[in-house]
Amino acid sequence: MKRQLKAIILGAGRGTRMKSSLPKVLHQIFSKTLIGWVIDAISALPYETENIAVIGHGASEVEEYLNNNYKYTKAVLQQKQLGTGHAVAQAVPLLHGYCGDVLIVCGDTPLIKTRTLNNLINYHLDNNSDLTVMTTMFDDPTGYGRIIRNTSDEIVAIVEQKDATEEQQEIKEVNTGIYLLNWNKLKSAFSELKNDNSQCEYYLTDIVKWARYAQLRVLGYVAKDNLETYGINSRKNLATASKIMKDRYLEELMENGVTIIDPDTTFISPETKISSDTIIYPNTFITGKNKIASNCKIGPMTHIRGNCIIEEYSKIGNFVELKNAHIAKNTNVCHLTYIGDADIGSHVNIGAGTICANYNSITKEKNRTTVKDNASIGSNSVLVAPVEIGKNAFVAAMSCVTKNVSPNSLAITRGQQKEIKDWVKTKKGEK
Ligand code: UD1
Ligand code: CA
Repeated sequence: MKRQLKAIILGAGRGTRMKSSLPKVLHQIFSKTLIGWVIDAISALPYETENIAVIGHGASEVEEYLNNNYKYTKAVLQQKQLGTGHAVAQAVPLLHGYCGDVLIVCGDTPLIKTRTLNNLINYHLDNNSDLTVMTTMFDDPTGYGRIIRNTSDEIVAIVEQKDATEEQQEIKEVNTGIYLLNWNKLKSAFSELKNDNSQCEYYLTDIVKWARYAQLRVLGYVAKDNLETYGINSRKNLATASKIMKDRYLEELMENGVTIIDPDTTFISPETKISSDTIIYPNTFITGKNKIASNCKIGPMTHIRGNCIIEEYSKIGNFVELKNAHIAKNTNVCHLTYIGDADIGSHVNIGAGTICANYNSITKEKNRTTVKDNASIGSNSVLVAPVEIGKNAFVAAMSCVTKNVSPNSLAITRGQQKEIKDWVKTKKGEK
């Protein structure tokens, strides 16, 4: 059985600098919310995790989002945002009787990786720590809490920027806002925190002093990569974080043998797996979870919106949008096409301008389109789902297909071509 771990995710803050009616933690990177990235990073830890999200600003919206997407994450309300220490205090009743470790993470740090959280946990366990603070180094530490160490290099306090002396402001080691606590030993700290600081807030960071006073073991785990703890406070931060996330992932893909022609104009969600020798052409935008096999060609100007599987040697070309679709091997979807909620077989040719009409706006239902192996769909066709095009079948160009097409058959729904001899001449009065 996996070891238990409980996590508290702080997400009640106002996010004033986002200048948004949407709660900060619901802003998105690659179609996933900030808090979603954090919860997923925690959930991928090799532990039996249980998450508690502290919510406040826009609570009903955040709660609804969590209920719909992360059912196993409990939400607890922080009525007034009186500080990070006060936020954690709201989760104390939910952890009644729990004796294991508690991980605390801010809900606005979407770049944090599971591996780094795991390193923090291992460091904490290996060193028998009671409270481990994840710290990192910044050349410009402005805005962050500074880590104060004594001459024996032990962490004795965290001082917020606004409370720091000039000398303390020179310190480059900062608090990332990520902690691991021996809950049994630390839980009573939260009823004893004071707000006697420049912001009149109950600081979570004060648990360091509390733990030292209680003679507990306090350690700092220094995260090497300071960008992973990058917090989102503004739209500019959001754009920067998106760029960091995408650049890192594109580099990883290139290292693994994927050709990215123009990384500057290519956006690929880190949840999309791509195998080697696939080529991604410029201006391609891929969000959500997808799997693209080797030797495919994607783009230029392709939009893949999640839940797609593309098998070997297939081509997805310009102005093609794909969503919730399975494209088998050696299939071409090369121009101006929408394939949504569809299963396309192998060696299929989808002509330019093909549309899967997957949505019934009256019943609000989405239906699937199936195209079997070796079928050919003529240009400018509409496949009205639910519908199946059989193996080796042929749909003539500009057909609107509303009924299944049997294998090896031709479906044609357009009007027949007529020719009126000398029509132009007649019109011009020449005849
Ligand atoms: C906090 C830390 C600082 C650290 C920095 C790292 C404190 C006092 N300071 O500062 O040492 O360097 O994070 O990014 O902890 N929140 C609540 N309820 C509240 C206040 C905040 O849930 O009452 C949440 C926010 O939604 C946010 C997180 O806590 O997700 C951090 O709050 P924020 O105000 O951004 O703290 P910082 O000033 O950045
Ligand atoms: Ca912050």
